[in-house]
This record gives sequence, structure tokens and C-alpha cells, in this order.
Amino acid sequence: MGPLLILVVLCLPVCSAYPLNGAVRQDHPGMDLAQQYLEKYYSFKKNVFRRKDSSPVVSKIREMQKFLGLKMTGKLDSSTMDLMHKPRCGVPDVGGFTTFPGSPKWRKNHITYRIVNYTQDLPRESVDSAIERALRVWEEVTPLTFSRMSEGEADIMISFEVGEHGDFLPFDGPGQSLAHAYPPGPGFYGDVHFDDDEKWTLGPSGINLFLTAAHEFGHSLGLYHSDKNESLMYPIYRVSTSAAQFHLSQDDIDGIQSLYGEPERQKNLGVVPVSSVSPRPETPAKCDPALSFDAVSTLRGEFLFFKDRYLWRKSRWSPEAELHLISAFWPSLPSSLDAAYEARNKDSVLIFKGGQFWAVRGNEVQAGYPKRIHTLGFPPSVKKIDAAVFEEEKKKTYFFVGDKYWRFDETRHIMDKGFPRLIRDDFPGIEPQVDAVLQAFGYFYFFHGSTQYEFDPNARTVTHMLKSNSWLLC
Ligand SMILES: *[C@@H]1O[C@H](CO)[C@@H](O)[C@H](O)[C@H]1NC(C)=O
Ligand SMILES: *[C@@H]1O[C@H](CO)[C@@H](O)[C@H](O)[C@H]1NC(C)=O
Ligand SMILES: [Zn+2]
Ligand SMILES: [Zn+2]
Repeated sequence: MGPLLILVVLCLPVCSAYPLNGAVRQDHPGMDLAQQYLEKYYSFKKNVFRRKDSSPVVSKIREMQKFLGLKMTGKLDSSTMDLMHKPRCGVPDVGGFTTFPGSPKWRKNHITYRIVNYTQDLPRESVDSAIERALRVWEEVTPLTFSRMSEGEADIMISFEVGEHGDFLPFDGPGQSLAHAYPPGPGFYGDVHFDDDEKWTLGPSGINLFLTAAHEFGHSLGLYHSDKNESLMYPIYRVSTSAAQFHLSQDDIDGIQSLYGEPERQKNLGVVPVSSVSPRPETPAKCDPALSFDAVSTLRGEFLFFKDRYLWRKSRWSPEAELHLISAFWPSLPSSLDAAYEARNKDSVLIFKGGQFWAVRGNEVQAGYPKRIHTLGFPPSVKKIDAAVFEEEKKKTYFFVGDKYWRFDETRHIMDKGFPRLIRDDFPGIEPQVDAVLQAFGYFYFFHGSTQYEFDPNARTVTHMLKSNSWLLC
């Protein structure tokens, strides 16, 4: 018995040990990868390979193909091999957490997290904000709230690790397994580990930390993998053509709400229209191919697109944008605005028209406004602002005027020295006279008429050209 077993095991990688009905051959070049993949993610038992019968392998491959939405051929065909080479979450697709009795969830609505250490790939502030935004994705659709701890034991401990790191799920160098997370519970439960052998980024190259973190937090809150390929909880990592298109799928929302229920109220925005005037017939058509925007801003995790007397409000998790009158939120504001940006460090949105600007927080226009734009440090020659955007990581605001831009320090409250500079020198590919700018997912989105430029500030290059109204899913 013993010697036979050794012989068969030694034989494994090199020979065709058993007849395979032509379905999966032991000498298939992808067999090693397939075996590892099935063991790691589909609780395939090694000893099955000893059998003189390929049917368990075939049925396991079919199970994997079914879960990942592939044709269930039972063969290691090219689309199956392609998908097995893709980066993915390290949490298994089956057989993992289902062994815990009941569906684990947090028995409280206020959850703490701590970022234990950092990757060298990104500045600390970028990691902080990516983590915060990834938690907000779930906060917005549940009654849950999150707060950060800087020391001690938090519910969700977040760390960057390499290789073997003290749990039974070692990481595997660059590619393949990117991160994993444990379901809710005490101790290491709820914790998230990121594989620091990945190249973590917030842009299109490398692995996007925000997207990966949002997925892993789904596990930390009690969700398993979903076989719906449009969902965040699908196990394979995908970069959408533009991270701007990110929103939770209905499947993700149904999943998390089955554990925690719906948000108590619109707690995150804290903004409700003060009057519900139904839009008039002359409202702008969101899918008009010529649509341009006056100004664009974020507001507490949502996006606001201003046009004439109206604004579209779009949350990150819902594909549908709502149309409102600007006056329904802020009765004293003018229409046809020039520029708007959210100073996230102050929970304010600053809104510009002509030589004046207003600061709003939630529904309220703050006392002391409007103020003159020259109080920000502009020379008298500047009569209006075309566009403005706040860069969260650096806590700087960029003001675009004609073919120049200024940079304002939101911490020290002064205009930075050495400005204005030419837009084309620092934002190559961006036309002068921009209508609006937005920062999201590590990119700047410049709006110019009906065209939108996705600009990667690290690579200093335009990465996509889109229609301005692509945010409204046109
Ligand atoms: C981060 O902390 C974890 C847990 O203490 C440790 O295993 C890991 O090596 C640390 N990683 C880095 C990059 O310091
Ligand atoms: C997602 O699944 C649907 C059917 O379930 C399929 O038509 C579509 O091509 C899949 N999309 C991707 C990107 O794999
Ligand atoms: Zn996962
Ligand atoms: Zn781990």
C-alpha cells in the first residue's frame, strides 16, 4: 500500500497516470495550475488524483466553470485557462466559511477598523482614503458605520503581508491571489490581508487598492463570493474600462442587506431636497449627445452634475442619476454655475459663479457667504473660475481659469507660490478652457463640451476619452 502510494504521487507531474475519457489529460500543460487552483479555491482534495478515474476532476472543473460563468465543458479549454491566470481574491469560492454555523455577521452596527501597516507602493494618505472610500461603499447601503482606530484591537485589522504570514493562507508573490479577508467574529475574524507583492495603485495599471479593498470588506462583513459576474463579490479581479463606472450591483446590495438591512435614512448625504418641485418640461435631456455640464462636484460620496437650474445627483452604488432643481437643495444659490468642488477635509462644497462663491454643508449655505473670489488670492484680472477640483491626497484645490491654473492649499488656506501655470504644461492633452473637473478613483475627469478626458495624474497622461454624460449611463 505504502510504496504504491509513493509511486503514484511521484508520477503525478510527469506522466499520464490514468485514462481520462479524453476530457482532462494528466499531461495537459495546464494541469498543475488547474490542480492548485481547484485545491485552493474549490476544496479539491489531493487524494482524488490517485483515482483511476477522471470524473471527480471533470466534475470539479465543471463546478468551477459554472461558478465563474464559463461554458461547462469539463475541459481545460482556453477560456478556462485564461480565467485561472487572472488575479483574484484569495478566499475560496466554495467550502470556506460555510463550515461556520449560521451566517456570521457583526452583532452591532458600529464597527472599528485599524490600518496596521502600509504598502510602499502608495503614499499613506492614498491608502487611508482608498480604505475609507471602500468602507463607505458598504456604509451607504446598510445601517453600518465605521470608525478608525490608530492603536489597539479593532474589529477589522488591515495589513499588508507577503508570502507565509502566520495564517493558513500564504500569499503567492505577484499575480493570482491578491488579498483575503475573514468573516465577522472576534480575534483575527473580520481582518483583511493584502498581498504586498502586488503593485498597488489607484490608477488603471497594477492592482486597484480601492476595488480590492471594497471586495474584501464584503467578506469582513459576512458576504461570500457571488457567481454573478457583474457583482463586486465575484472572485476574479477585473478593472472596468473606467473605475468611474464603479457601483455595487443589485446582487451585492441584496446580499449585504440580507444581513444588516437597509440604511436607517439617508445618513451619509444628510441632504434632502427642501421642496420637491417636479422638473419642468424644458429639463435638460441627460442622454443628449451634446450635453455639457456647468460644474461637477462630489458631495459626501455622491456626485453632483450641474446644468442650468438643475443638478443630477448620482450615488456610487446606484446606476440611476436623479434630476433636481438646484433650488430644491439650496434655495439661495444662483443657476448656471461656473465651478464647484468638495473640500472633503471640511465637509463643505464650494460653489462659484462670477466673482462670488458660496460654501454649503449638507442643505445649509454657510454664514458669511457669498464671498469675493479675490479673498482666495486671485489677482483682479480673474473675473470668474472655469472649473475647480480638490485633490484629496494632497489637500490642494486646483482652479482652472482660461489656459492657466492656480493651486490653493486647503490646510494653510493660501494660494501656493509659483502659480498660475499653463494647463498644457502640467496636464498634457487637456484643452484650455475646461468646463468642469472631478477627481475620483485616482483620476481627474476634465469636462470640455460634450467630451470628457480621464487623466491619470501619476502618469500625467490622458487614459480615456469619454462622452461627458457617460456618468449618467448614456
Ligand atoms: C504588517 O503587519 C503584519 C502583522 O503585524 C506583519 O505580519 C507584516 O509583516 C507587516 N507588513 C509590513 C509591510 O510591515
Ligand atoms: C457575464 O455573464 C453574462 C451571462 O451570465 C454573459 O452574457 C456576459 O458575457 C458575462 N460578462 C463577462 C464580462 O464575462
Ligand atoms: Zn473574495
Ligand atoms: Zn492572511
